[in-house]
Amino acid sequence: MSEIKTKIRELVEKRNVARVGGGEKRIEKQHAQNKLTARERIELLLDEGSFEEFDMFVTHRTTAFGMDKEKYYGDGVVTGRGTVDGRIVYVAAQDFTVFGGSLSETFALKICKVMDQAMKVGAPVIALNDSGGARIQEGVRSLAGYAEIFQRNILASGVIPQLSGIFGPCAGGSVYSPALTDFILMTEGTSYMFLTGPTVVKSVTGEDISTENLGGASVHASKSGVTHFVAKSDEEGILMLRKLLSFMPSNNLEEAPIISCNDPIDRLEESLNEIIPDDPNKAYDMMEVIKTVVDNGEMVEVHSSYAKNLIVGFARFNGRPVGIVANQPKFLAGVLDINASRKGARFVRFCDAFNIPLVTLVDVPGFLPGSGQEYGGVIVHGAKLLYAFGEATVPKVTVTLRKSYGGAHCVMSPKQLRGDMNYAWPSAEIAVMGASGAVGILNGSQMKKMEDAEERAKFRAEKEAEYTKEFANPYQAASLGYIDDVIEPRNTRFRICRALEALANKKDLNPAKKHGNIPL
Ligand code: HXC
Repeated sequence: MSEIKTKIRELVEKRNVARVGGGEKRIEKQHAQNKLTARERIELLLDEGSFEEFDMFVTHRTTAFGMDKEKYYGDGVVTGRGTVDGRIVYVAAQDFTVFGGSLSETFALKICKVMDQAMKVGAPVIALNDSGGARIQEGVRSLAGYAEIFQRNILASGVIPQLSGIFGPCAGGSVYSPALTDFILMTEGTSYMFLTGPTVVKSVTGEDISTENLGGASVHASKSGVTHFVAKSDEEGILMLRKLLSFMPSNNLEEAPIISCNDPIDRLEESLNEIIPDDPNKAYDMMEVIKTVVDNGEMVEVHSSYAKNLIVGFARFNGRPVGIVANQPKFLAGVLDINASRKGARFVRFCDAFNIPLVTLVDVPGFLPGSGQEYGGVIVHGAKLLYAFGEATVPKVTVTLRKSYGGAHCVMSPKQLRGDMNYAWPSAEIAVMGASGAVGILNGSQMKKMEDAEERAKFRAEKEAEYTKEFANPYQAASLGYIDDVIEPRNTRFRICRALEALANKKDLNPAKKHGNIPL
């Protein structure tokens, strides 16, 4: 065999060795735990045949603890470039079969390389995490490697979309790279995230808690809000990441891809004329409204189990991706509270950073009152959402369906926060507060003097009716130009589509500054 042929054969052999990572036995263990390997995940994520791997022959450098005797090509992370729906993306998939996917110096450098190139070309980075954290044998080199990645996460924020899929352990400081990215997805039962695990928790605080209850997917989806999405399996999770990407541009200088739409934009939805209950205190499902107005009833909800009183997510109008922010009367009557404000603010800022128009559907009775909220800092957290809407320069279309009261009215993308098109349904009530609260304050002293309960109730009802007639409608706001038009509910889809079309080339600027100081 010629020398060249021998060299080619050597290369093929090395590649084959690299492809099995930590070896067949460890791959079997991975599969036995209902987990895919790093390479299988990449195959599923990227368009067929599009993956080009980088740094397949990199190995770790440390020699401590006999590490010079055990080396694996690729060093525990598979990195490279490929396409999703034809668009370039960069990917780093941690390989649990090599030292438990733990992070070494060279492992970190591989990730940094793809991140640097993604920034140069303006393409998203997707991290598929499955790791035992800092590689113990590497000592401080590993910590430095993490910090190098964090720095890149920070600089890439708002420039290219960054998505994290957590498909196994993610513990200690390694949680911070996902936390710095735009969206986190976790798998049910096979992934967990925490700063300190159950053993440390037990020794420091005495609390006995399982891995799942401390940092499993459902905990982070419903209690902490750390994860935006939960998938039942690796396969489902990876397909969700692909779908999520379809709503985003590749970088902050581009627009999200517009797809062809077969759903007529002038579809009249008679059901919307009936959806608001006559009783103002009765709930309805805002999700029904959303599904009725968006293209083909399709929406990808973000944070679906967290702060359910506010719905956020991606949908399309006439093929154009938008971010939807909507109060949900079905939960806590749709009030804004700390968690809803944080959830909404983060979503609005993502959309604004990546040129995704915002469609806001309002039915909000106010902020949740009480010491719990005040002690928790609802003032500052509520201000986050206010800040995010006010800072956003993307097209902003707002529809007020029913209540829009007080401070919450000012937060939910009103005209004065540079709302572009603000519509209201005839059922809208735009006021400082509801009739009952207003009458209690305005006529409280008169009512106190009334000894006869019947007389008091009659007086209250009259005053409330007076107040409702004056304020619980959209026409005062419309007469002042705060509402651009009062629309028939069944026309909502058409009006939103047309507004977004008109606003497609909208340009708006914020004053030059290093960065604002959003109340964190
Ligand atoms: C080196 C590691 C490792 C690590 C796992 N391995 N974690 N090697 N450094 N951090 C190796 C194991 O030795 C084993 O090697 C293989 O990976 C699989 O690990 P197992 O324990 O057999 O797997 P499993 O039972 O599934 O348990 C997974 C695990 C556990 C829960 C993740 O391995 C574990 O607790 N690892 C340590 C986690 C940790 O404390 N990391 C440091 C966190 S602090 P063999 O050869 O047997 O296959 C941190 C700081 C970051 O990360 C700071 C950033 C700022």
